[in-house]
Amino acid sequence: MLSCGCLATFSVTVSLSLRIKKKRLMATKEKTVYVCTNCGHESPKWAGKCPACGQWNTFVEEVVRKEPMVAKHVAHGIEGVRSKPQCLKEIVSSDEQRIDMHDEELNRVLGGGLVEGSLTLIGGEPGIGKSTLVLQTVLRLTDKKVLYISGEESSRQLKLRADRIPHSDNADLLIACETSLEQIFTHIKNVAPDLVVIDSIQTISTENIDSSPGSIVQVRECSAAILKFAKETGTPVILIGHINKEGSLAGPKVLEHIVDTVLQFEGDQHYMYRILRSIKNRFGSTAELGIYEMRQDGLRQVSNPSELLLSQDHEGMSGVAIAGAVEGIRPFLIEVQALVSTAAYGMPQRSATGFDLRRMNMLLAVLEKRVGFKLAQKDVFLNIAGGLKVNDPAIDLAVICAILSSNMDTEIETGVCMAGEVGLSGEIRPVNRIEQRISEAEKLGFKRMLVPRQNMQGLDKNKIKIQLVPVRKVEEAFRELFG
Ligand code: TYD
Ligand code: MG
Repeated sequence: MLSCGCLATFSVTVSLSLRIKKKRLMATKEKTVYVCTNCGHESPKWAGKCPACGQWNTFVEEVVRKEPMVAKHVAHGIEGVRSKPQCLKEIVSSDEQRIDMHDEELNRVLGGGLVEGSLTLIGGEPGIGKSTLVLQTVLRLTDKKVLYISGEESSRQLKLRADRIPHSDNADLLIACETSLEQIFTHIKNVAPDLVVIDSIQTISTENIDSSPGSIVQVRECSAAILKFAKETGTPVILIGHINKEGSLAGPKVLEHIVDTVLQFEGDQHYMYRILRSIKNRFGSTAELGIYEMRQDGLRQVSNPSELLLSQDHEGMSGVAIAGAVEGIRPFLIEVQALVSTAAYGMPQRSATGFDLRRMNMLLAVLEKRVGFKLAQKDVFLNIAGGLKVNDPAIDLAVICAILSSNMDTEIETGVCMAGEVGLSGEIRPVNRIEQRISEAEKLGFKRMLVPRQNMQGLDKNKIKIQLVPVRKVEEAFRELFG
């Protein structure tokens, strides 16, 4: 009996101590998860194909050490806020407070300035000019206290860069070279900045997680903590992010879900033009576009892109057509160049830069079928000048005309431009914002413009000085241009 009792007490003690140990273990629990590098899907087991996004071979192993939420918040120096559901009609709708960035292009892409308490991500390939753009912008914000966290460059390197950019002295610009998230929050607490810049999110890591900086889990945890800070304190934060080989933001999609605004800085390193595009914006349109020129002394805003894109003299050259394009709400004229040559080997080549290849193939099929031009034995190369990428369907007509001009080796008269979408039966479909396209062409001294016939209704012809040529089918356009 006695021994039985002893045994019972012993087993109770053992199970108790086991339970305490388990609790302690739960406080800092380590686990291995497999994360998809493409979409961020987590799985306890490795898999060849991601069940969420369907990509192959994207799973990588990550070690996660979970800490209880309270401990995490204390570590981040943020007090948890108890929230309570509120009636929608009780919520006061006030306009978002926006910070003027003193940069017209950036302001427009952001939707009218940087919103207080927002988290903005600027992504782009290495060396494209992300750090330069952000540094020159914060140097102009003389009335704001800015904390620039650099995880990539030393303060001396930043100073050298700032010296290249002409600026008025922002005495309140503070630089900290730091990669630990906990340290960054300590700096923020001490400095109480109006704006925080983190260059780049892939170099920042939190001590709560064992995986290396730049890994998906690190990027996700750090940006989630930064988002929480931005929302709770109303301080806007700009994150700089890298782009991976496939051209999407490394980190990956998870990062795009977390932040409020995603801006992509793109352009060819061999060209000096850079384009700032909005991919996601919770406070504005995503159709906006900002254009910059990379110079010796930093980035210059390009407020009149047409002049820059049409600067070359192309008189007497075949295969060039000028299109009136619109990106967002901004009209500009672009130069479409085509080269058609006899295919030397069996398979003809088709290549398009800055234009959708599938759409070009469709347009070639329209040319073949409706107009009877035999392009099957020809190589066709298409290029949008200036390294631009255009999605506006209104440049279809210019694409077709440039191809035909090159094929016939006949130039299109200078002073002629065009806008129009081409349908499968060779019809020219109406385009949006026709007045803006026309006035842009007028502004740049064009004399004649081919426009879709359906767009002619509702146009105030008295105000228009340029000669408009309404066209209904591609044949009509060709007759007009090539006789
Ligand atoms: P950077 O801003 O460091 O690019 P990122 O942060 O996107 O990696 O820009 C680097 C390039 O910009 C570098 O190749 C040099 C060029 N540059 C200029 O041409 N002019 C300038 O005034 C500056 C500061 C940089
Ligand atoms: Mg950089």
